[in-house]
Amino acid sequence: MAKLKKAYFCQNCGAQASKWVGKCPSCGEWNTYVEEIIEKGNSNSTVKSSQSKSKPVAVQDVENQPQLRYRTPNQELNRVLGGGIVPGALHLFGGEPGIGKSTLLLQLGLAWQGIKVLYVSGEESQQQIKMRAERIGISNKQCFLLAETNLQSILQHLEKEAADVIVIDSIQTLHSSLIESSAGSISQIRECAGELMRFAKQSSTPVFLVGHINKEGSIAGPKVLEHMVDVVLQFEGDRNHMYRILRSAKNRFGPTNELGIFEMQGSGLKEVANPSEILISNRKEQLSGSAIASSLEGMRPILIEIQALVSSAAYGTPQRSATGFDLRRLNMLLAVLEKRCGFRLASKDVFLNLAGGIKVEDPALDLAIVSAILSSTEDIPIAPKVCFAAEVGLSGEIRPVNKVDQRIQEAQKLGFEKMFISKYNLKSIQTTDFKIELISVGKVEEVFNKLFS
Ligand code: TYD
Ligand code: MG
Repeated sequence: MAKLKKAYFCQNCGAQASKWVGKCPSCGEWNTYVEEIIEKGNSNSTVKSSQSKSKPVAVQDVENQPQLRYRTPNQELNRVLGGGIVPGALHLFGGEPGIGKSTLLLQLGLAWQGIKVLYVSGEESQQQIKMRAERIGISNKQCFLLAETNLQSILQHLEKEAADVIVIDSIQTLHSSLIESSAGSISQIRECAGELMRFAKQSSTPVFLVGHINKEGSIAGPKVLEHMVDVVLQFEGDRNHMYRILRSAKNRFGPTNELGIFEMQGSGLKEVANPSEILISNRKEQLSGSAIASSLEGMRPILIEIQALVSSAAYGTPQRSATGFDLRRLNMLLAVLEKRCGFRLASKDVFLNLAGGIKVEDPALDLAIVSAILSSTEDIPIAPKVCFAAEVGLSGEIRPVNKVDQRIQEAQKLGFEKMFISKYNLKSIQTTDFKIELISVGKVEEVFNKLFS
């Protein structure tokens, strides 16, 4: 076998050394050196480059090729991917342990009739996967399992099997025999992902890589994987809740603002086509501190229940806690209420929760949050069938939000009768188009009167 040339590189500044060193002599960082292959056997780069056929082309002369997409049987996944899977695309699928990454991808393979899927697992045995497959139900007879962790052996199988879609679960368990470091190390991840990318591009086969995430919530390895792949999907959710959310953090072939919602059941993940109904369905009694926001995730409006609890601080420093929402934004809204409406919130504990364990970053939630806090402070329930969609600015002004007509339509569809919006949004819509009563507000002070009078 031809000899490999390897060296150690600092992951911080890129300095090179022939041996591992603890402290980088060039940038002074500790523990940043990893082994990498710099030349593989008989490849001769100078010969290659002189024979290269690539040449620069003016942008307008580049030929248009229709973007082919395979629609998967999973509608939520299609939505997040921007319509379907692009041939040759390398996808990275990240998420906390136990969130359902393996389940979702196995389910995809088992449901996709007529497509040959090869599911390579380095984590579970074929028997274990079979047990899971039986829970989910097997409808695709062409879903193959391979329990293997050696990259070279996997690549041989991939060439031989010629599957239509490949799943690798997970990239951290693979190891290439060309590198000595253990599976999961940065150099192994980079090498294995690089080889799989080459395979995906050369054979135009879409590949899904499952990636573990670390304590901080990013995919293990300093962003190497995210940079290499075409699509980064993140599977999130609270393990104690049933709902799981699939987002794309990067997509070279489509938008990144779409969201897929699933529910974990005894027989795998079920697609949730109509999330609003579930996220607010269990409201029977009227309780203070609860308000409904009409939010928009990607192209899809979702009604979300906001729950707030305001109580006197038991200890000196009041506590502020937010689940599913940015804590700094909550603090800002509290400061606005204190300054503009004269509510003494500085000595209160404030807890905020988005029902269903979902996480949202839509500024249109602001008005519902402010209303939920007011309702809890005064202990007056907000009337049922009332919802909100507006942003709150620092000076207490109620600001307009985008796509307000879609938000109104969704609220109307679910039987809401009144909706608070910014008065600056009225210009962009025809109020007569809607049956729902629109209450326009311009300042946060007005909200309280219009809500509770
Ligand atoms: P898993 O898919 O193995 O998660 P990951 O690959 O992200 O680590 O685990 C999913 C969890 O969901 C596991 O704790 C068991 C549970 N589960 C169900 O509730 N229903 C099911 O049908 C399956 C297959 C798993
Ligand atoms: Mg798994």
